[in-house]
Amino acid sequence: TPESQNYLLSSIRSIPDYPKPGIIFRDITTLLGDARAFRRAVDELVQPYVGLKVDKIAGMEARGFILGGAVAHQLSAGFVPIRKKGKLPHETVRIAYSLEYGVDEMEIHMDAVKPGEKVILVDDLIATGGTAVGAVQLLRQIGADVVSACFVIDLPELGGRKKLEALGVEVRTLVEFEGH
Ligand code: PRP
Ligand code: MG
Repeated sequence: TPESQNYLLSSIRSIPDYPKPGIIFRDITTLLGDARAFRRAVDELVQPYVGLKVDKIAGMEARGFILGGAVAHQLSAGFVPIRKKGKLPHETVRIAYSLEYGVDEMEIHMDAVKPGEKVILVDDLIATGGTAVGAVQLLRQIGADVVSACFVIDLPELGGRKKLEALGVEVRTLVEFEGH
């Protein structure tokens, strides 16, 4: 609803020139710290998937763990962490990716899903889509069926949603901010 969208929007703090001049950092710590906003965000992320058969939620380190864990719990699904390189102890698949302000590598355990398992990707924000596209590629490499991806925040001008949709992934987002 518009009311709930406004509530979520106003619970997100904007910090100009962080981490670099010209970038406005959309800070979800204020949303997470507000019990009503946190519940609302998780409820709205979960809602379209209630009743679907979902095996696992995958979340990207770090902010995707907070929301993804809550979504997984609410859908009674398993949780798969996609981590920054060097953190996972078992055999992994690794991918290099670029995001709004830099490049990095992330990994997933080879055996994190069984072939054909239905997985939903969860993160706090989609900007350029580099992180989410990398995550979809990792999940597909280990045999997952990525049925959807959801984010609290979309920065549409950065084009991430279109990139994910071009890969054939349904994208759901709760609020949008103009500009970077
Ligand atoms: C942030 C955000 C998303 C990503 C979006 O993560 O949490 O994961 O950037 O950007 P993109 O669409 O351009 O890839 P970041 O790695 O900065 O930090 P985090 O470890 O706090 O999640
Ligand atoms: Mg992140």
